[in-house]
Amino acid sequence: ATNRTFTMIKPDAVEAGYTGAIIKMIEEAGFRIVAIKKTQLTSERAGQFYAVHRERPFYNDLRTYMSSGAIVPMILEKENAVADFRKLIGATNPAQAEEGTIRKLYARSLEANAIHGSDSDENAEIEGNFFFSATEQY
Ligand code: CMP
Repeated sequence: ATNRTFTMIKPDAVEAGYTGAIIKMIEEAGFRIVAIKKTQLTSERAGQFYAVHRERPFYNDLRTYMSSGAIVPMILEKENAVADFRKLIGATNPAQAEEGTIRKLYARSLEANAIHGSDSDENAEIEGNFFFSATEQY
């Protein structure tokens, strides 16, 4: 079925000027952009977004990094969106990402890994609504 996922281009990739190239890969893979903007998280908002990781050792660094510069959040729509998008971005650690994936091409490290992709339909909805109101989703 056609469904949605949530993504954001992270500060390292936005700063490096990869936004356009990454969006081109996403559209060429068949995803339709439902919502998009450029914004910056505070450390508090980054902590809320990644609250599921609050007990992990990398949580505080992740908050600092994710609030260090502009990000480009998007809601995307496609058949089998969540799973297909995770294939397109590749493994969390770019050293393990397959050739041709967004992280293999554009990520710098395990933390500064260029892009986020939701891990389930349920989280895609929660994460999309974190950034976009109903009247911003078309
Ligand atoms: P993301 O898929 O957005 O989800 C959690 C983020 O935490 C991950 O991408 C990385 O940016 C960051 N991170 C930093 N260290 C780790 C780690 N050891 N394992 C997983 N994620 C990490």
